Amino acid sequence: MAKILEIKDLVVDYGIIRAIKGINLEVEEGTIVAILGANGAGKTTTIRTVNGIVKASEGEILFKGEKITNLDPYKLAAKGIIQSPEGRMILNGLTVEENLLVGGYSLKSEVIDGKRVSARKRTKEVLEEVFGLFPVLKERRKQQASTLSGGEQQMLSIGRALMGRPKLLLLDEPSLGLAPLIVKEIFNKIQQIKELGTTILIVEQNAYQTLKIADYVYVLELGKVKTKGSAQELLKDDQLIKAYLGETR
Ligand SMILES: Nc1ncnc2c1ncn2[C@@H]1O[C@H](COP(=O)(O)OP(=O)(O)OP(=O)(O)O)[C@@H](O)[C@H]1O
Ligand SMILES: [Mg+2]
Repeated sequence: MAKILEIKDLVVDYGIIRAIKGINLEVEEGTIVAILGANGAGKTTTIRTVNGIVKASEGEILFKGEKITNLDPYKLAAKGIIQSPEGRMILNGLTVEENLLVGGYSLKSEVIDGKRVSARKRTKEVLEEVFGLFPVLKERRKQQASTLSGGEQQMLSIGRALMGRPKLLLLDEPSLGLAPLIVKEIFNKIQQIKELGTTILIVEQNAYQTLKIADYVYVLELGKVKTKGSAQELLKDDQLIKAYLGETR
């Protein structure tokens, strides 16, 4: 399998605070890679650096072998790196459907099976794909996004990112503040998104649920990679789950 993302010796500073202290991380195409770790470990910073919102002080980020370090977020989005942000960032004055269309603004006309499909038609098709994955968003397409439940807002946030047809989807704490049953549903959807062919880099606090869907895991501690391994291996390691993930089954 090809590497879609490589992070090499990454260092990130916020002024005099060094948040990331030289991390190396790889994502194979078609997999789910998770970044776990306690509050303040540097998870969000890592994902925001991949997304271009935060700039690297040292090191390199490669996407499909191409150097993309410190490019602006809109350029990265055009290459297929799209984030569903921590805190969801729903556009409150807009309906569910309008929120999704904002996510699809960059879709262009494409030649599919020898036929040119207009950007407008493409947008409609991708919208239907997203509605297929999240039927609840279709039911509520005309509803003000601000009136959705927390779980529905999370689905909208992920759906909006999918509207840009990401090759690499970045998710920052999709389970934040949601009830256990909804968390399960969201994680099922994430698994489904992978099965439909999108590579995913996910940041989470919910270690156990994440290990169940992830292929490979990095555990960060104070800006460094403390442990890494296949999710299956880490799931078996009760010591590790207790020590680093602050959680037991
Ligand atoms: N804008 C900022 N300015 C200064 N320091 C920051 C900034 N953002 C993050 N930090 C610091 O960088 C470190 C890593 O923060 P980060 O948000 O990446 O952690 P995290 O692992 O995502 O934590 P959480 O689980 O709480 O979301 C923390 O010490 C934090 O205080
Ligand atoms: Mg965070």
